[in-house]
Amino acid sequence: MDDPSTDMTSLQIARRLLGEALPRHWQLYIGSLICMIGVAGFTAALAYSTKLIVNEVFVAGSATAAYQVAALLVVVSIGKSGFEYANVVIATKFTRSVAAFYQKATFRAMVAKAVPYFAGKHAAKHMAEVMLFGRAAGLVVTTVLNKLSTDVLTLIGLVAVMIYTDPLMSISIAVLFPLIFGLVALLTRRIKAVAAEEIELQGRIQAVGAEAFEGIKTVKSYGLEAKSKSKFAAAVNALENRMLGIAKMTSLTIPLMEFLGGLAIGLFILYASWQTGQGNRSAGDFTAFITAFLLAYQPAERVSQNWVLIQKSLVQVGQMYGLFASAQEDAQTGTASLEGRASALRFEGVSFRYNAEAVALHDVSFETKPGERIAVVGRSGAGKTTLIDLVQRFYAPTKGVISIGGQDIAEVTPDALRDAIALISQDVFLFDGTIRNNMRDGKPDATDDEIAVAAERAMVTAFAKDMPDGLDSEIGPNGASLSGGQKQRVGIGRAMIKNAKIYIYDEATSALDGANERAIMQATVDSAKDSTILFVTHRPSTLQWVDRVLLLDHGRVVAFETHETLMETNAIYRALFNLNTSDEERA
Ligand SMILES: Nc1ncnc2c1ncn2[C@@H]1O[C@H](COP(=O)(O)OP(=O)(O)O)[C@@H](O)[C@H]1O
Ligand SMILES: [Mg+2]
Repeated sequence: MDDPSTDMTSLQIARRLLGEALPRHWQLYIGSLICMIGVAGFTAALAYSTKLIVNEVFVAGSATAAYQVAALLVVVSIGKSGFEYANVVIATKFTRSVAAFYQKATFRAMVAKAVPYFAGKHAAKHMAEVMLFGRAAGLVVTTVLNKLSTDVLTLIGLVAVMIYTDPLMSISIAVLFPLIFGLVALLTRRIKAVAAEEIELQGRIQAVGAEAFEGIKTVKSYGLEAKSKSKFAAAVNALENRMLGIAKMTSLTIPLMEFLGGLAIGLFILYASWQTGQGNRSAGDFTAFITAFLLAYQPAERVSQNWVLIQKSLVQVGQMYGLFASAQEDAQTGTASLEGRASALRFEGVSFRYNAEAVALHDVSFETKPGERIAVVGRSGAGKTTLIDLVQRFYAPTKGVISIGGQDIAEVTPDALRDAIALISQDVFLFDGTIRNNMRDGKPDATDDEIAVAAERAMVTAFAKDMPDGLDSEIGPNGASLSGGQKQRVGIGRAMIKNAKIYIYDEATSALDGANERAIMQATVDSAKDSTILFVTHRPSTLQWVDRVLLLDHGRVVAFETHETLMETNAIYRALFNLNTSDEERA
């Protein structure tokens, strides 16, 4: 887990969870409460009616009593099973509702997390957390409020019957309780230790599987099927072993309770034979007592087992609350807007490091004029991507200030920043759906006319008109049915619709041929006259469109000059430029 786990205790976590879930799902809770009382009442009645059977039917030999008792038993059984059925249905709905609520809440919290949270961890692992945190919350709420409460109520009813029929024997059995508590506490401690690991292992399976499917062409062309299979098998086996370990621990409560129960029954038989010898008790009393005791067995066993399971799930719910808290921290950004600000971008002494060892940007300072077009160039690893990630506030600078139109971007709202910037990246990401809907993501309230204009400028129309449904053609997950160049054009169209102050083209035309690139560059500079445009590029052809070039090397600004000046004065630039005339190396 890279999110900070909360330091709440199990009790605090349970209190918070129940406090949140109860008001939200109170109807379901009332329904299950009625069912619980019904089940407990009828179970106790069943135990007590055995006293009537023995004393009235067998000992007194009354025929009328036999009919009455038989009828009573049928009614009690029907009542008990009816409530049990309703209880299961309501409990299932309850669990699903709570789980669904927390799955949505976890997803919301994760999306709110800052970019570094997602680096180095496969998307499938995040999804596993979303699903499992929600499931753990649903399990805790309904196990505590329904299963555990039903069993505890049932136990109380049965214990009442036991105490009523034989107080002395009941107290002697109570001596066993500390023993049970001690052993259950031991199991609880061990299971809490493996709770976080369960989610990690579930996530690993999903990540290994998703990786193979996403990279299926690579897997097949390099013959990596066997490697994928064994990686997947190892992940599945690890989880299976872990789950078996957990099941072994939780199920240890079964033999434990059976043993203690057997012990109690043995003692009881000795005690009963002694008491009947004395003529103190009726046979019916003993039957009622032993029936209540036997009926108490299963609920008691389930209580201890559910207790251990709840402890495990509470650890996971605690992780979920940790995520909520850290997402809230991440979301706490400024209140300023960029309304009316110019498009000038300014870096003042900006440094950034990803980790202790590697400094990615050193003391970077530069300022663009509003509406200026800039090429950001430099060797692979020079810091170009880092620089544009900082502009979008994906990371915060370690030192220094970045401002747009004089406003420090650290102080603006996420909405304001998002509206001010349009990014077009080399590996453009498109959503499953139509071309039109993907373009509309740039500006949700765009009219069809606006989309048509942008589609024309970004040369999307040029290929979409040959597709069966034009702009309304489905393009598959991440635009699977489009070529790389077509995807880039849809991505450029999506950005053009947006009325941004700053456009960032990160190798955005790398998959376009020369003619297409020229047309799109022309449209780009024509349609965004007041905006600052940053072209991160290795292509010499892009340089004719820009006013100045920002040359980076090893995380430092080497020069910020016109192309002509740099060609005359800068050896690094010339080397870069000549190197890349023939070789389109990508960053
Ligand atoms: N997520 C990351 N974690 C650690 N180091 C990184 C990360 N991303 C980039 N770097 C390092 O930061 C430096 C600049 O990288 P980058 O900005 O991607 O360069 P460019 O885009 O110019 O090729 C490189 O040395 C790179 O190894
Ligand atoms: Mg890069």
